[in-house]
Amino acid sequence: MADGVDGISDLVDGGAATVDTAHFRAVLGHFATGIVVVTGVLDGVPYGLTCQSFVSLSLDPGLVAFSPSKRSSSWKRIQESGAFCANVLTEDQEDVSRVFATSGADKFRGVGWRPSETGSPILQDVLAWVDCRIEARYDAGDHDIIVGRVVDLEAAPRGRPLLAYRGGYGRFDA
Ligand SMILES: Cc1cc2nc3c(=O)[nH]c(=O)nc-3n(C[C@H](O)[C@H](O)[C@H](O)COP(=O)(O)O)c2cc1C
Repeated sequence: MADGVDGISDLVDGGAATVDTAHFRAVLGHFATGIVVVTGVLDGVPYGLTCQSFVSLSLDPGLVAFSPSKRSSSWKRIQESGAFCANVLTEDQEDVSRVFATSGADKFRGVGWRPSETGSPILQDVLAWVDCRIEARYDAGDHDIIVGRVVDLEAAPRGRPLLAYRGGYGRFDA
């Protein structure tokens, strides 16, 4: 796993301009996104956290990225495993999103899963999943940017996504 590119850390340290965090959240909340649960296994124990900062990065090689908070206790364990699976939630999985967003919760209680090629949990009934090995980590303020090299991925034959918009949940009505 490669570590840090000077540019980003210089930007973070050198950039004086700060914005009001509540205003930042309110404005960025207008950018609607899908929702994934990033999962991993360490010493046989599954871990996971809800994320909306997930993005497709590169087609060839297949790379994706997302940004976990430096305060995430689940991510710390997943990172140690060297791999993760991004599980794209369906419109019926708002409860799954909520439980995996609750720090300290028994997140996997009542949630079925099977191990992927990297051993990371593929949650039951998700819309799609993307299994990755951690390729790089970049420091980015109070979060990190994690790049994953895609090992395997699949999508369900049908279903619609759960969306995040303005601090709440939405559905895709097409
Ligand atoms: C819709 C939604 C999107 C979220 N997106 C992110 C994200 O992109 N990155 C992140 O670190 N936390 C994100 N969170 C918050 C984490 O899910 C939450 O802090 C984490 O699950 C806390 O648990 P942990 O202490 O076990 O890591 C999001 C929460 C919700 C409800």
